[in-house]
Amino acid sequence: MNSQIFRDDLLAGKVALVTGGGTGIGAAITRELTRLGATVVIASRKPENIEPAAAGLTEELGRPVHGRILDIRDRDSVRTLMSGIVAEFGALDIVVNNGGGQFFSPAEAISDKGWDAVVATNLTGTWNVTRAAADAWMLKNGGTILNITMLTGRAFPGMAHSVAARSGVEAMTRTLAVEWANKGIRINSIAPGFVASSGIKRYPAGLDLISQMRSFVPMKRLATCDEIAWAVAFLASPAGAYITGETMTIDGGKTLWGDWWPIPDPEDVGTIEIPTEPWEK
Ligand SMILES: NC(=O)c1ccc[n+]([C@@H]2O[C@H](COP(=O)([O-])OP(=O)(O)OC[C@H]3O[C@@H](n4cnc5c(N)ncnc54)[C@H](OP(=O)(O)O)[C@@H]3O)[C@@H](O)[C@H]2O)c1
Repeated sequence: MNSQIFRDDLLAGKVALVTGGGTGIGAAITRELTRLGATVVIASRKPENIEPAAAGLTEELGRPVHGRILDIRDRDSVRTLMSGIVAEFGALDIVVNNGGGQFFSPAEAISDKGWDAVVATNLTGTWNVTRAAADAWMLKNGGTILNITMLTGRAFPGMAHSVAARSGVEAMTRTLAVEWANKGIRINSIAPGFVASSGIKRYPAGLDLISQMRSFVPMKRLATCDEIAWAVAFLASPAGAYITGETMTIDGGKTLWGDWWPIPDPEDVGTIEIPTEPWEK
């Protein structure tokens, strides 16, 4: 199936890396970029998240999606992957820093190890990939980088480690946008609110939590993974050519809503459907 939004050669000839591209939001981004003609490499730690995803997306889309194993915290591996992509595919035009993770915890229960792991993944891991992509290709040839963050503008109780790391990514985004503008590199962040991704099922309260989440969104629903992927495609395409250093919030109005103004649920709130990956039985 072609993109529902964009013309199907929009990113023809581009080479893209999507970290965490085998699951959830990353898989939707991979699907959209591939549909638009890009050659996409997906990379994360677990073979079970990469191998069936690469095979499943390749079969679904009729074009190869390339899987690689990578821990974004491991700088040597990150550098090796970047130079390998440039050697094999001849470029690295688009990098989507989507790989990341965290766990809900009251701040006083976050262990030193837990804090370090979340910051190492979400902040330093994003830097590792960004810097290695710049060195391997973009500083000489230009390119565009998209960082998937989270809502950082207000408090995010239960996520002190991650919101700190993601705020750092957004500040890094603004700074690199200025430092690298004359190298032809554009870098932006996309801050999703609540997204109905397969990843959200990993949180302990599961669907109960999701029901609570949507009641705090003026649109009274979660985002789809495609709604994040379309923003990535837009910003990666010539439509985003003059946009750099921005954080695009995609949250159905959540951040704008105060806490006191009641928005009644519609009579039919509908059922919550979490999509499975096509290769999942
Ligand atoms: N779903 C939401 O509501 C929401 C809202 C705001 C932001 N986000 C962010 O959006 C991104 C995607 O989330 P999702 O909902 O699609 O969840 P997800 O399926 O859990 O995606 C996280 C991906 O990151 C990869 N990853 C984790 N640690 C890594 C590491 N050290 N090196 C390389 N890859 C790593 C995981 O693969 P491996 O385990 O194989 O490494 C996985 O593919 C995450 O950064 C998430 O925090 C999600």
